[in-house]
Amino acid sequence: MTRSIPKNEWHPAGWQALSAQQQPNYPDQVALEKAIGDLSKLPPLVTSWEIEALKDQIAKAQRGEAFVLQGGDCAESFDDCTSENIVAKLKILLQMSVVMLYGMKKPVVRVGRMAGQYAKPRSADTETRDGESLPSYRGDLVNRNPFTAEDRIPDPQMILRGYERAALTLNFVRSLIDGGFADLHHPENWDLDWVGHSEMAGSYRDIVHSISDSLDFLETVLGRAVHQTQRADIYAAHEGLHLSYEQSQTRYLEHRNRWYNLTTHFPWIGMRTAQLDGAHVDYFRGISNPMGIKVGPGMTVEWLQNLLRVLNPNNEPGRISLIHRFGATLVEEGLPPLIKAVKETGAPVLWVCDPMHGNTESTADGTKTRRFNNIVNELKTSFEVHESMGSYLGGVHLELTGENVTECTGGARGLTDGDLARAYKSPVDPRLNYEQAMEVAMTIAGLTKANA
Ligand code: PEP
Ligand code: CO
Repeated sequence: MTRSIPKNEWHPAGWQALSAQQQPNYPDQVALEKAIGDLSKLPPLVTSWEIEALKDQIAKAQRGEAFVLQGGDCAESFDDCTSENIVAKLKILLQMSVVMLYGMKKPVVRVGRMAGQYAKPRSADTETRDGESLPSYRGDLVNRNPFTAEDRIPDPQMILRGYERAALTLNFVRSLIDGGFADLHHPENWDLDWVGHSEMAGSYRDIVHSISDSLDFLETVLGRAVHQTQRADIYAAHEGLHLSYEQSQTRYLEHRNRWYNLTTHFPWIGMRTAQLDGAHVDYFRGISNPMGIKVGPGMTVEWLQNLLRVLNPNNEPGRISLIHRFGATLVEEGLPPLIKAVKETGAPVLWVCDPMHGNTESTADGTKTRRFNNIVNELKTSFEVHESMGSYLGGVHLELTGENVTECTGGARGLTDGDLARAYKSPVDPRLNYEQAMEVAMTIAGLTKANA
């Protein structure tokens, strides 16, 4: 039994006494408190059973027995909370996981950056255009993107609207899954209409047929359905950034003697907010959810070892995932000291590669993009570095969409800077489109097979 934090030793509001980075400046504190009070009365989005089930899956991945696929938008937007978008996101995650399952011969744990990925860290509190300075856009949980004074004022009601949309999203995902949408016997459900002609779709279908054939064979031999393959669980993750939001659905569950954040299964903490004496670390240390910590250039050995000590003092399996995001050029040098640092502590962690956030650049006209080759190179190097150090890379964290966007360059279709304007939709970071995401999945599937 791991010792949990007794009820009176930590409180979900304890962070408020500490310095909190990246929090919005609400002009109306009374309205904020009212919204937070209203939110805390609503039912939770997830249960501790699901959270503990995910923690078990992550513990398995830590032992090398599973692989974790995390993916979704950089930031969800309220406008994109539509049936089509949710279905497309589910389809791409399911398709990728099937390819990876096939290539790696390991269970793939699916975690969507969804149902609450509404708050964004920003490099500056204000944005200036033509001499006018306004609060930065911090995601739909906080304010609105158009550059007007009215839109940019942080509005506490958006916290409630965000929670409701997160609930709608999860509700639809759960219904689809319960209704058989994710049944491996019926992968035709996951076809995305517009990709029929794609080479990626062709290779994907070959894999699916081969899986369906082996499933049929297995079931004939066993004389029963192969239970695990019928239902694919999808877990929800978001950056635990907006502490009032996270706090208001943090509950002490008597039957478990522990605190849980019930807005999501898997919150993660960004490096920008991971100060040891800061508000976010204090909040995260008290909850029992499995959690991610982003690490990249600037993360020191001492800082990382202290984070592990504070956030997982009892070395609980499945609790910590370290999501590294160095960029293709820095990963080879930056990652080994961190792997060594973790080994020294003996703490169980899941290593996850985020090959997106260290590879963001701007084109000549100032468009934010990422080059497919850099993304794949960071992934490949990460697999190699872990393997050479006797460590296991057990997950990937991607920004992607099932839509046909043009936000990252390269990939099988060779998108160029000139293509970006055609279908650039992300209000924040550039995402892999369907084909690029499938290509990454196939690379991972091949890579790990080659490494096995
Ligand atoms: C993100 O995951 O969208 C993000 C902002 O990442 P990072 O904090 O690692 O830059
Ligand atoms: Co991002």
